Amino acid sequence: MRIESQAFANAVGRARAIRSSHVIVVANEKGGSGKTTSAMHVVVALLKAGQKVATIDLDSRQKSLTRYITNRKNWAKKTGIPLELPEPFVVDRGNTRSVDDNEAAEFAGFAAAITAVEHTHDFVVIDTPATDSYLMRLAHAMADTLITPLNDSFIDFDVLASIDPENFEVTGTSHYSEMVRDARRQRRLVEDVDTDWVVIRNRLGQLETRNGRNIAEGLAALSRRMSFRLADGFSERVVYREMFPRGLTVLDTLDERTLGMKPTPSHYVAHDEVVKFIATLRLPLDERGKRRAAARAEWFRSSRQPFRDGGLTAD
Ligand SMILES: Nc1ncnc2c1ncn2[C@@H]1O[C@H](COP(=O)(O)OP(=O)(O)OP(=O)(O)O)[C@@H](O)[C@H]1O
Ligand SMILES: [Mg+2]
Repeated sequence: MRIESQAFANAVGRARAIRSSHVIVVANEKGGSGKTTSAMHVVVALLKAGQKVATIDLDSRQKSLTRYITNRKNWAKKTGIPLELPEPFVVDRGNTRSVDDNEAAEFAGFAAAITAVEHTHDFVVIDTPATDSYLMRLAHAMADTLITPLNDSFIDFDVLASIDPENFEVTGTSHYSEMVRDARRQRRLVEDVDTDWVVIRNRLGQLETRNGRNIAEGLAALSRRMSFRLADGFSERVVYREMFPRGLTVLDTLDERTLGMKPTPSHYVAHDEVVKFIATLRLPLDERGKRRAAARAEWFRSSRQPFRDGGLTAD
């Protein structure tokens, strides 16, 4: 689908004009590629860097990111550990019979969420469903950073590009990457800045395989053609799956009190790969936020030390 209507351009313009936060969109039209898992890790990374973060959940059917955040809030309450939390919003899909009315309602919901956080939050992280819709195209056209997680399979690759079955060379772009290209073009019409598109391979196997090599080569070729950056991938690890009920991530303190279980070597390796990924994103962390994070870390350190003579002293 091409993004060409004047109404859409106006909508992007209005949406862009009303915001000042850095907008991160996590998206891929393929389901189950790791969008919500990646989004939650980005949110927690930003919170830990002292940034004020709002989330917008466009997946109003599953609301997985919002549920992840609720689980985190509940776990913090239960354990008494002050886990950092974003401010969550959900935008409902229009459900009338009129496409125009639905689009108007979705735009209004989206704009309302963004207006609510524009002056108070440094970052807005938007998690999206695996569908194409007006709201999705609008979100893509607003992205300062677009993150696309991709499972290491040619079925998933197919939403980005078609492949020659004999030599695995890229023969053409597919629906989703064309939608992103149109959204980026739309954005450049409104302001002269390009979206930073970062693709990350997810659920990588521990062993190098021929399939993995072919996908890596295909992505490298496509990244030049479509102007995206490739991040080092996330491995397939059980730890990514078991964190959801407690609302935790591998960026949280990896101790038994926080996790509710003993950390394993897999937690630390996963932590390192997520830290590397966050660095790849090159997000504009502001100094104010870094100072907030440093002050909080200092407070944590000193609050664990015993009180003596009415003051905080070292052991
Ligand atoms: N690196 C990983 N290792 C193991 N499991 C993973 C990994 N990344 C994601 N998962 C699991 O894969 C499933 C899909 O992940 P997730 O829900 O983040 O994807 P999604 O793209 O948001 O899905 P949807 O399209 O349904 O919104 C979840 O069960 C998640 O726990
Ligand atoms: Mg999801």
